[in-house]
Amino acid sequence: MLAATALGLGTVWVGAFDDAAVQRVLGRHDLLPVAILPVGYPAEEPEPTRRRSLADLVHEIVRPAAPAGETGVSRMSGMPR
Ligand SMILES: Cc1cc2nc3c(=O)[nH]c(=O)nc-3n(C[C@H](O)[C@H](O)[C@H](O)COP(=O)(O)O)c2cc1C
Repeated sequence: MLAATALGLGTVWVGAFDDAAVQRVLGRHDLLPVAILPVGYPAEEPEPTRRRSLADLVHEIVRPAAPAGETGVSRMSGMPR
């Protein structure tokens, strides 16, 4: 989608479709289609829609360094021993 947009094209995620019909059209019953991305030349240039902030989507979990002698691999910070 990013590459298409960079080329001046428009795309849209489509996830609601008949899996079997897509498999039939592609002749690939061994593949399960998960999305269709139609690509075309946009007829309009709508204003960008609102986006959630990065801080709302990305959370950093910091684990304290393990004391000497412990690997610290199996227990996450805040979990009961
Ligand atoms: C995984 C995925 C599948 C989607 N499937 C459909 C769909 O089947 N039909 C539909 O009308 N919109 C679908 N959408 C929503 C639109 O593709 C689009 O994200 C929505 O119109 C918001 O557009 P915007 O992100 O440019 O604001 C889907 C979005 C995602 C992320």
